Amino acid sequence: MAFAVQIAKGIFDLVRDDLALVEQEIAAQNSAAIEPVCEISSYLREGGGKRLRPALLLLAAGASGYRGESAIRLGAVVEMIHSATLIHDDVIDGANTRRGRPSANARWGNHMSVLAGDWLYMQSFEMALRERNFAVLDILIDLTQNMVEGELLQLTRLGQIDLNEAEATELAYRKTACLFSGCARLGAVLGKQAKEIEDGLANYGRDAGLAFQLVDDLLDFTASPEKLGKPVLSDLKEGKVTLPLIFALQAQAHAHGASHTASADGNGETHASNDGRWMVEKVLEERDFRTVRAEEIARLVRETGALDRATKLAKEYVRRSKASLEVLPDTEYRRALLAVPDFILEREN
Ligand code: IPE
Ligand code: IPE
Ligand code: MG
Ligand code: MG
Repeated sequence: MAFAVQIAKGIFDLVRDDLALVEQEIAAQNSAAIEPVCEISSYLREGGGKRLRPALLLLAAGASGYRGESAIRLGAVVEMIHSATLIHDDVIDGANTRRGRPSANARWGNHMSVLAGDWLYMQSFEMALRERNFAVLDILIDLTQNMVEGELLQLTRLGQIDLNEAEATELAYRKTACLFSGCARLGAVLGKQAKEIEDGLANYGRDAGLAFQLVDDLLDFTASPEKLGKPVLSDLKEGKVTLPLIFALQAQAHAHGASHTASADGNGETHASNDGRWMVEKVLEERDFRTVRAEEIARLVRETGALDRATKLAKEYVRRSKASLEVLPDTEYRRALLAVPDFILEREN
């Protein structure tokens, strides 16, 4: 299982036993569901996954001086919310692979998948309610709404070539980083930490999450589908203009601006065939690599330096993320938390 492989790398050693308990808790919850939901959620759970969100919550709780049942339960809650989001996301994106296997929608169809996702959301909230802690519910409701709004916002932006860096970052925050942030904040809440530490952990999670989504966007251009467990070069086909592509278009716009001035002596050429903007527009229009080949887009982001620029930005998020941990006392949990953003940067799936 992919997740066991990751843990073997030692990053989550400290919470390995607790993660096994989280896994048991999720399995127990799944088995309480009626047949099709039980089947779909077990299928997704057994497909692997990195269990990054519960790991983050457990480590943040440990760094905040809390260990115990509530962290296990909330670890299961955040992973189930994540699963629900993945199931719905694959329906929306029309994706046919997840965790190296056919996606839920590919196997059970959209109708069943949407309802299974709904059930998972509600089951996670029922579990969270058992904490009898309004702060916990506030965090979970806020992040779930943010994620749904992120997907909605992304739908309204689909196919738009002029998405800018700030808008793409907002999408990444809502889709991904707010859940990371919530996981880390929940750890602080369990440890009844002061506001300063709670906010420090939340900022840590947010920046780690922004790095995570940026790496996800990069992997879409650079990874192999076998390693990634989901299709590559699919964002653009799905109508998503991600940061690496935004950087590539910016670089080309600059270069063309320069070449147009230089060729004012009548030497001007249009660069029509290799014009990045034209190529991207074509793929967005056709929602396929028909006129333009996938390799041409991959070359565009590489040769304009966009991949390098996006990697630099991911590293900057990682730096900020780690800096936010300065408010915490030096414990083995804090040291483990410091290693997570580096793992995010180096991940291959
Ligand atoms: C995938 O998340 C969705 C994104 C936020 C890009 P993960 O890459 O953490 O998915 P699993 O749980 O490991 O499969
Ligand atoms: C990632 O959206 C965030 C989610 C909430 C699933 P994507 O559409 O970019 O995620 P992948 O690439 O399908 O995992
Ligand atoms: Mg998707
Ligand atoms: Mg993606």
